[in-house]
Amino acid sequence: MSLRRHFENIKNVACRILLKRRCTLRKVLAIVLIFSVVSFVILNYCYFHSSKYTKIPSLPPVPNIRCRLDKDLGLFDQMARNHDTPGSVRIGKRVLVLLETPYTKSAKKIMAALSAARFEYKVEDTGGKLPALTHFEKGRFGVVIFEHLQSYVNMAYWNRQLVDKYCRDFDVGMIFFVSSPDEFGIEFERIPDYPLLLQYNLAIKNYRLNMVSDVWRIIRPGELIEERMPDDDWTVFHPNHTAFEPLAYAQIAEPFYKNASPGYDVINRTLITALLDTGKIDGIKKILFGNNLKFWLHHPLLLDSISYLSHGKLSLPLERYIQVDVDDVFVGAIGTRIKAKDVEAMVQTQERLQHKVEGFHFMLGFSGWYFYHGDDAENEGDKKILEEKDKFWWFGHMWRHEQPHKFDQDYLEKSMSNNLEFAKEKGISVVHQYAVSPHHSGVYPVHEPLYNVWKKTWDIRVTSTEEYPKLHPFYIRRGFIHQGIMVLPRQTCGLYTHTIYIDEYPGGREHLDDSIKGGELFQSFLYNPINVFMTHQSNYANDRLALYTFESAIKFVQCWTNLQLKQVPPLELAIKYFEMYPEEKTPIWKNPCDYKRHQSIWSANKTCKRLPKFLVIGPQKTGTTALYTFLGMHPAIKSNYNSQETFEEVQFFNGNNYEKGLDWYMDHFPNLTNDSTDLLFEKSATYFDNADAPMRAFALLPKTKIISILVDPAKRAYSWYQHMRAHTDPTALNYTFYDILTAPDTAPRRVRGLRNRCLEPGLYAQHILHWLDYFPAQQLFVIDGELLKANPVLVMDQVQKFLTVEPYFNYTEHLRFDPKKGFYCQVLTDDRNKCLGMSKGRQYPPMDVKSGEFLKQFYSKPNLALSKLLTKLNFHLPKWLDESLGA
Ligand code: A3P
Repeated sequence: MSLRRHFENIKNVACRILLKRRCTLRKVLAIVLIFSVVSFVILNYCYFHSSKYTKIPSLPPVPNIRCRLDKDLGLFDQMARNHDTPGSVRIGKRVLVLLETPYTKSAKKIMAALSAARFEYKVEDTGGKLPALTHFEKGRFGVVIFEHLQSYVNMAYWNRQLVDKYCRDFDVGMIFFVSSPDEFGIEFERIPDYPLLLQYNLAIKNYRLNMVSDVWRIIRPGELIEERMPDDDWTVFHPNHTAFEPLAYAQIAEPFYKNASPGYDVINRTLITALLDTGKIDGIKKILFGNNLKFWLHHPLLLDSISYLSHGKLSLPLERYIQVDVDDVFVGAIGTRIKAKDVEAMVQTQERLQHKVEGFHFMLGFSGWYFYHGDDAENEGDKKILEEKDKFWWFGHMWRHEQPHKFDQDYLEKSMSNNLEFAKEKGISVVHQYAVSPHHSGVYPVHEPLYNVWKKTWDIRVTSTEEYPKLHPFYIRRGFIHQGIMVLPRQTCGLYTHTIYIDEYPGGREHLDDSIKGGELFQSFLYNPINVFMTHQSNYANDRLALYTFESAIKFVQCWTNLQLKQVPPLELAIKYFEMYPEEKTPIWKNPCDYKRHQSIWSANKTCKRLPKFLVIGPQKTGTTALYTFLGMHPAIKSNYNSQETFEEVQFFNGNNYEKGLDWYMDHFPNLTNDSTDLLFEKSATYFDNADAPMRAFALLPKTKIISILVDPAKRAYSWYQHMRAHTDPTALNYTFYDILTAPDTAPRRVRGLRNRCLEPGLYAQHILHWLDYFPAQQLFVIDGELLKANPVLVMDQVQKFLTVEPYFNYTEHLRFDPKKGFYCQVLTDDRNKCLGMSKGRQYPPMDVKSGEFLKQFYSKPNLALSKLLTKLNFHLPKWLDESLGA
């Protein structure tokens, strides 16, 4: 049969099938065309709507990270170094950062890296005055970082001499980031008096680390980045001295190198992109980076450099404890839930990870109400997970996936008991005293009933959240302890309930891979010795993105670092955490209304209106009770409720009450109606000289106004002594005022204690300055306490003006001098006053002359500082201050 005939036959068959009759070739082609267009439209529609309807299954991604020198194969495994040397004894655990301005991206990245590592640091301007570098023969800084090498080179002569001398004397090293100039004209530059040539603005590839260097601790050399680095602004180093040791190499990435000098073979040459100066040139060890912290590997390089140059003083441990929470087990819409095969994959991955992470177990958080609520295959998945239950660690959740902050204690108790019953019935052993809350609700901001029920129902001791102090930036997340429950910071790994398919990953698959290969997820491993990661059940179904992510990330960490990955049960983990960071135990309470995310998980029946608009901070014995009483007479000003222990004072920001939490504090204030413009306030005279109070008050009430009252500090000291005698304090009764004031540091503790309470609050300028470290000066008002005694009406008018409170309250009609009391008192009727109690405005003998002279001398300098400060703040100088200065 000829070809033509054959084709004719096919055409006829096609026509008979499609049109049920004979037809022409043109008709067939037209039908095929229409058919193709319709199919194309339908397929496209299905593709773009696949997540809503039926998903065309894509293959789950497979972890594909391979180490060039694989640890698992026993290839190259250097022992991680310990940088400790005796030199560390003489230096402080602090970094000095010298910048041109703190606002550049590179400066911010340095500060972020130091915060992430929780290294204390001091930032100074290279053009300004240097901070004190030593303190009692000890160096205050363990390492000095320059944002730009150039700013060190151009530093004022004396400043540079000073830093150099400090580094030499204390054997402290310097770190420099070297940036290429913006203008492309400058190709090479020599550093004056230093045997080093810099070559600028290069694009590089084949990045690798020196295989042997004393600097490496976290870093495990041996890997190679073959692809071209993302930026074309690399600086490379051409050293000309034996003191230099290369730390990292690369090659030019063709064809981006345009400016090659004739005869200079850059293409094949190995270039140095990070360099160690061992200190043989000028006695100072230096490490230079040919770019900034945009490049992910510069982060571990920076940590190792800091550790090496500070003699191990500023060094992170090598152990990394990790915990991967699988939240919402049994929860989830049909079509997104785990199936039996997914459970098998989880078990297999867990087994593989156990070879890499000592003690690794997925932590499964379940809500029993949803058990068996999927389709048939998903219900099989639920069954399978119960079959394999003993292979995992489990923690309890809410019975249904509800946000605890919306419920009262009874409801929460019922919900958790149901879940507990479910666990018992299914034989799930929940033994780790750990729980998390759906959407972090109730953990921070704290919902007290949640903490109560956690303790009561499950004996919970540990939880985690990513909301404290807030979600972003990720490197500031911290832990705290409340009601004995340890709250660990939780890290995100880029997987949320809805990220279930790789080809729908927000920003594309590269986005997830970038996070794994040096990005946010890698940095979490790098900077946090303890990482609690959150994933969801749906991330283990579908494309099993969690399995892919963690297997890849862990492999990547092991290729590039010596970090030792481990897992321990949550209670042990939390104890470790707070041993490592004891300063984090007490939370810093913030106003939930200042941050939308927090407000959305804060109890609906709470209002930020129930917080003070101003604080009277003291100090004690200056007339604070009089001011408190007079303020309370104002129709639009409402004071706190009395406390059972500390009477009219709440004393929240300065002592143990702070640990009782925000609810406790708010309960001390009346609930104002929504339309009320009344001003709430509290007075705690102990705030004034307390070290923590300004920071804590500012954290919760950044807009609050602050009122302080000052009297002659000598009088204040004496008033306190008399106050203690009136309270039959044995020390005050057994020692004269002069004995107390002049007690040496060897005196018994209680004598020193009384001496300090007499003298220290009177160092007014120092304490006010501490408040001004946080609050802007416009929010501060200083009252002359002598004027408050002599002319309270005038003072109350000034206060009303400062507070901009309405309506104006005419105190002339409400305050009257009471000759018997010797002070102004509240007018009750024409012939009756209400004065402050016996303990205020007491009669006592005048101060002895010797004590008066001692105090005059003691306060002469602090009073001078106060007069300067009050002048600077535009306050009228009190008469007693003028007099004390001999004016
Ligand atoms: P003395 O009792 O030593 O005289 P505080 O309330 O901060 O503890 O301060 C007590 C001091 O307030 C008293 O100290 C008293 O001098 C002073 N004060 C000012 N105005 C007063 C008033 N209207 N009534 C009673 N005391 C007053």
